[in-house]
Amino acid sequence: MSSLQPPAQRLWWKQPLDRLEGTWIVLALIWCLFMFAMMPYWHIAGKQNISNEAYRTTPEQYSAKAQAMVDKYTVRTLTDQQLPVVHPPAESDVYLVARLWQWWPLLELERGKSYRLHLSSLDWQHGFSLQPLNVNMQVIPGYEMVITVTPDSSGEFTVVCNEYCGIGHHTMLGKIFVVD
Ligand code: CUA
Repeated sequence: MSSLQPPAQRLWWKQPLDRLEGTWIVLALIWCLFMFAMMPYWHIAGKQNISNEAYRTTPEQYSAKAQAMVDKYTVRTLTDQQLPVVHPPAESDVYLVARLWQWWPLLELERGKSYRLHLSSLDWQHGFSLQPLNVNMQVIPGYEMVITVTPDSSGEFTVVCNEYCGIGHHTMLGKIFVVD
């Protein structure tokens, strides 16, 4: 009796395992374990995954911190909406707010300097995607994610929302300027 055939009795789990089927189960298990081991390995060796910190917050607490940074370090405004461009000191904490449907404020960072970039949402889930680099983070209300960034090339980078967040999702674009 092979398990490749429809079982004669309904108690299929009491049927002996076919050799071919057993081989595939073993192969799948080995592959599974290999892929599992690759996750920590690639995190350490592959430099692709971001090590982030996460803290509980509230929209009120988070927007107060972002507002304080904007009040202190705005250097100019851009576009008709007078979006602030903030140039925080090197090595400092930098706050980026995600909300329907905006990344706020615009950031100006210095090349080769490290920053602690904080991300949180004031409403619902957004996705932080830094273009043209392949940096992706989930931005979730109630949580403050912190990543340490050191821009290694100057220029203009676009922040795209990559988590569908409603009617204005496709307009949710931000900017990070990296200056020498
Ligand atoms: Cu925010 Cu899509």
